[in-house]
Amino acid sequence: MKSSEHIVRQAYQIQVADREKSMGQTGRVLWFTGLSGSGKSTLANEVETLLHAQGRHTFLLDGDNLRHGLNGDLGFTEADRTENIRRVAQVAKLMADAGLVVLTAFVSPFAADREKARQIVGPHRFVEIYVDCPLDVCESRDVKGLYAKARQGLIPDFTGISSPFEAPESPEVHIHTDRHDLAQCRQTIVDFILS
Ligand code: ADX
Repeated sequence: MKSSEHIVRQAYQIQVADREKSMGQTGRVLWFTGLSGSGKSTLANEVETLLHAQGRHTFLLDGDNLRHGLNGDLGFTEADRTENIRRVAQVAKLMADAGLVVLTAFVSPFAADREKARQIVGPHRFVEIYVDCPLDVCESRDVKGLYAKARQGLIPDFTGISSPFEAPESPEVHIHTDRHDLAQCRQTIVDFILS
């Protein structure tokens, strides 16, 4: 039995449009996906900083940080990643309902999970940003030293090494962090958002 089976939805008196009006912006979710070390978090931070400076109301949800709190009970099996992404999508939806521009930085390696996230958030306000970078480049960067550990077999189910990454087929924005510098990558995203 689903725990929501006997739960009846309550109607809110304040609607999403009311909240957006008082925020002076529309709620959106900018969903960054890509390999560990591809530059998701760095880029999401840069984009958020720029939007914040422009007076937008934003919030950044980052995989590494949420895994210390809300998702602290989850590991990296396929089922746990699916649950990780489901929770993040639900939180992002609520924040977008509040009128925020939400940025999420999660590996989110499975296409089906990203598609579910799009449906949870609402396709009209979901922007998939593929932070593309070849595995060998991510591995050579190895900012956190995790690829070296994964190669030694110390980290199981590591994305790109022992767990797959299903690249987005038609993301709204496709960024190549190995070909363009940070400022160029940021600008491509901001141009899309403001267009
Ligand atoms: S996701 O696959 O469920 O979306 P998430 O983005 O929350 O992953 O967390 C990924 C981060 O956790 C990576 O940036 C990396 O620092 C760390 N990490 C630890 N173990 C793994 C692993 N097995 N696979 C991928 N990332 C891992």
